[in-house]
Amino acid sequence: MTQDFSQLDGRGRLRHLITLDGLDPGLIRELLDRAQAYLCLPGQLPPRGGDLRGWTVANLFAEPSTRTRASFELAALRLGADAVNLDVMLSSRAKGESIIDTIYTLQAMQVDVFVIRDAQPGIIEYVARHVDGHVSVISGGEAHISHPTQGLLDALTIQQYKGGFRDLVVTIAGDIRHSRVARSAHCALTALGVAELRLVAPAELMPDADEFAGAARIQSFDEGLAGADVIMMLRIQKERISGGAPSDTEGYHALYGLTAARLARARPQAIVMHPGPMNRGIEITSEVADGPQSVIRQQVANGVAIRMAVLAHVADARRRRAP
Ligand code: NCD
Repeated sequence: MTQDFSQLDGRGRLRHLITLDGLDPGLIRELLDRAQAYLCLPGQLPPRGGDLRGWTVANLFAEPSTRTRASFELAALRLGADAVNLDVMLSSRAKGESIIDTIYTLQAMQVDVFVIRDAQPGIIEYVARHVDGHVSVISGGEAHISHPTQGLLDALTIQQYKGGFRDLVVTIAGDIRHSRVARSAHCALTALGVAELRLVAPAELMPDADEFAGAARIQSFDEGLAGADVIMMLRIQKERISGGAPSDTEGYHALYGLTAARLARARPQAIVMHPGPMNRGIEITSEVADGPQSVIRQQVANGVAIRMAVLAHVADARRRRAP
């Protein structure tokens, strides 16, 4: 974030959510607790609260999305808000309207919260600087840089299965260089005091040396898995790699694919995570993705709860700011 911009209001509450970088661990824990309270057992009716009654949430996604967009929409609806989804790739922006004109147009329709996914670094903060004082902007994923609600839902999932962070070894494996999921996981897990964070990737998919402070970098997957409590798998982000992704997917799978045999190197109770979309047979086999150690579907369930928690938090903060 640029120096004179803050996503917090004067009381230290979130007005916007653009990054987890620098966020107070107490605030992160508060969001996880709030999300936990929104969860219910599969088959039970999801909670419906009135926390956002009368509000309008607009999803503006300029990159493909299944989970994130659907879960922001469901989160808004379950809190009693109206929700509108704009496929920015098909909207006026494709006809040359600037994003700010699109924002002003929707603001004139009484939108209170914009959820934005964009491939251009800095655009989400730029929008946050231009919206009216009562309006909030929440990132649904910014380029390779940040995906704050994913970082929160990943932290919530780990907390549910492991009870905390202090003694944990977390291994993130795959295309870390181009992954906003990995960057936000790093922010969240570091803030929550994880014992050890390992990054496993081939050299060309490893982030630059000045990123991911405190994390160990390991090229051998087997070494990175030894004693791990949590394994987070990432797909290769082809769309962010100029010149294209490695074409030898079989070779990649042989070295960096998570198979059942490989998973046996981690702790027996280790959990396997993946933000989706998965490329089965490349970074993960179906046996592992659908196996007993996989918590991938719980991540999806937690995604709705986390997005409810973030929306309810910004709504509370706005009510407290109101004169
Ligand atoms: C991720 C994303 O879009 O960054 N997916 C998601 O939000 N669940 C990861 C990815 O696209 O690989």
